[in-house]
Amino acid sequence: MNVAARIGAGHDTQSVLVAQGITKSFPGVLALDNVDFFVRPGEVMALLGENGAGKSTLIKLMAGFYSPDAGSILVDGMALVADPAAAHRAGVATIHQDAHLVPAMSVAENILLGRWPTNEFGWIRRRDQKARAAAALARVAPHLSPSTLAGRLSSADQQLVEIARAISEDSKVLIMDEPTTSLSPPEIDRLFEVVNDLKSKGMGIVFVSHWLEEVFHISDRVTVLRDGKLVGSRPIAELDHDTVIRMMVGREVRATEVPKRPIGDVVLRVQDLSRENVLENISFEVRAGEIVGMAGLVGAGRSEVAACIFGIDPYDSGTVELAGRTVRPNDPSSAIGAGIGLVPEDRRQQALVGLLSVRSNVTLSLLDQFSTFGFLSMAKERMIADREIKALSVKTSSPATRVSTLSGGNQQKVVLARWLARKPKLLILDEPTKGIDIGAKAEISELILRLAEGGMAILLISSELPEILTLTDRVLVMRSGRISASLDKAEATSEAIMSFATKG
Ligand SMILES: Nc1ncnc2c1ncn2[C@@H]1O[C@H](COP(=O)(O)OP(=O)(O)OP(=O)(O)O)[C@@H](O)[C@H]1O
Ligand SMILES: [Mg+2]
Repeated sequence: MNVAARIGAGHDTQSVLVAQGITKSFPGVLALDNVDFFVRPGEVMALLGENGAGKSTLIKLMAGFYSPDAGSILVDGMALVADPAAAHRAGVATIHQDAHLVPAMSVAENILLGRWPTNEFGWIRRRDQKARAAAALARVAPHLSPSTLAGRLSSADQQLVEIARAISEDSKVLIMDEPTTSLSPPEIDRLFEVVNDLKSKGMGIVFVSHWLEEVFHISDRVTVLRDGKLVGSRPIAELDHDTVIRMMVGREVRATEVPKRPIGDVVLRVQDLSRENVLENISFEVRAGEIVGMAGLVGAGRSEVAACIFGIDPYDSGTVELAGRTVRPNDPSSAIGAGIGLVPEDRRQQALVGLLSVRSNVTLSLLDQFSTFGFLSMAKERMIADREIKALSVKTSSPATRVSTLSGGNQQKVVLARWLARKPKLLILDEPTKGIDIGAKAEISELILRLAEGGMAILLISSELPEILTLTDRVLVMRSGRISASLDKAEATSEAIMSFATKG
């Protein structure tokens, strides 16, 4: 059977990358099941699907990280071998989910990391290195200097440096796994300008996103995976939001209904919290059963407030009280003891122990609750963990699976599950649905509401205005380390929030 016949309508011989009949399994998981996929030069293709659908696995195969159990991948008609360096030479440039630069290295060093040009004696040729880095940088981020330390750059500029590192003169396809999750809206616009520029030069672009607005904004075609199977690949012009969601989830996703609930006594009281150059006179309260939103641009200081309350970061002055008790500064165990839970933004890095099982990661913070004279009740641990894993529909072959083998979004759910199991008095959620698929987003919204109904006080930090607008009772807007507004339900509109986030 020839390739065109197998892939069916829509595929043509111009495709720069063609994957046919790809099957890939891991112990206990069929991650991809006979998937066909293609990218044409000069098109932007969004690869969509729920957490664990197989997107990152497909990307790793195209990047030469894994070899398929069955099927093959052709780049410009040539078979790809499972070797990342060979895939890169063949023209496949990839930015993986959670790619990071080395903060203490310069932009140029980061760009050339892993492929330093050497002379015939194996010595690194410094001058060549600089010239190559400069050329790559000029293509995507001419405003950056090659000698700046990567750690000094904003996440948006770091992303551009990653693109500069990924592409080379002969890159034919650029593949990005969730490139926009840590960018603010203007930064996403800038990334998309670069994407459009590369596209106009004939590069094929593949990107993964859980944010449909941007998918509709930038892509020409979408390919949807569900449970490792190809659902379909269609031009975006033929599709609307609801159709795409149905393709991904296989069912309707209902809008969350927010019921009225009683608001109780003050649980968290923060007074005049200040930290030099970071936070200035932060004061607010969160009551039992109340969901308080915290909006603002990336870098406005929202995560820093959470870090101070939770005792991860020190503060110069001010007080944090929980249910009338002062929480000791700079002491997370005092915060946890008082009944504060924090689901951090950078969940996988800060919160998971990769080598431990999914179940142990859920019960990590529960040790004191379950132990009788220091012994952990295994049965109890198991029961609670399994219940939460189920409640959040974490996709794992078993609760005993190592957490590091879960898909990105499912790892995030594990951290959420841990705090849900512990039932704190105050739960701080920092961007809880970042990297989470559309179906699970709705589930997490429902969960937040159920916790509030049960009397938990919730501080919800989010950059997604729809999430803030539907779920919260009150919105604090932050700008440059201060609270620039406190808006009640009636006052909190997107316009008002954006205006207080950017000026005033
Ligand atoms: N190295 C691995 N070992 C075992 N299982 C794995 C491994 N990598 C992926 N899996 C499993 O394969 C399935 C697909 O995972 P993949 O990372 O491709 O999902 P994804 O679509 O990228 O999801 P997300 O949106 O959450 O990032 C999941 O069930 C995952 O647990
Ligand atoms: Mg992924």
